[in-house]
Amino acid sequence: MMSLCTNSILPIIPNLPVTHFNTKTPILTPFSPQNPHSFNQSLNLFNQRLKIKQTPLTIITSSMASTAQSEEKPFSVLFVCLGNICRSPAAEGVFTNLVQKRNLSSKFVIDSAGTINYHEGGPADSRMRAASKRRGIEITSISRPIRPSDFKEFDLILAMDRQNKEDILAALERWSFTETLPADAHKKVQLMCSYCKKHDETEVPDPYYGGAQGFEKVLDLLEDACESLLESIVDKSSS
Ligand code: 4NP
Repeated sequence: MMSLCTNSILPIIPNLPVTHFNTKTPILTPFSPQNPHSFNQSLNLFNQRLKIKQTPLTIITSSMASTAQSEEKPFSVLFVCLGNICRSPAAEGVFTNLVQKRNLSSKFVIDSAGTINYHEGGPADSRMRAASKRRGIEITSISRPIRPSDFKEFDLILAMDRQNKEDILAALERWSFTETLPADAHKKVQLMCSYCKKHDETEVPDPYYGGAQGFEKVLDLLEDACESLLESIVDKSSS
């Protein structure tokens, strides 16, 4: 089966002798998204003239495709910190690991970003990657700054600390002047530690200028928050 998603398809059949159609030759009607069969109809007319047999194509219009997708739209989570090299890539790794262990990968889109672009294109901090690896978690993400489309594409945006949350909301306000963003996008922005059950901390502290224990603390908090985050999403989707 072949799928086509285009607005301007006409049959292209190479190496055929040139045929001179008379004025009664039906004119090929171009493919129209309003009539997804128009391509097959025009292809059949064309092939009748040339005595070619061809299996009809199955055409998926963009409206059909979006209906199919919306039925199984994955839940999307974006983790955000300052540089996107320590806390948020670790959160992405911890949450991805939990989702994989529960065989739920197809149900989620998971990503991370920073509120600054200073480390854009670079890998996560080697200390964060080493600490995560000791707990069986691979961090593979590449740093990128948060962008306007994140407010459309993600269901939940989790900030590691209050300053991150303020910066995310300030960016949303700025971008709202020039971009069409969801009116309730600010509701998607929450603090990561609001999901913690075993810890009293309200923020994931920045480990960048500290010692090794700072990276362990980040992972303790993230493991706690990610476990209850996953539970809350699974509970909501089954209720
Ligand atoms: P993150 O940590 O926000 O958890 O990725 C930091 C990374 C870089 C810097 C600060 C914090 N920095 O100042 O470059």
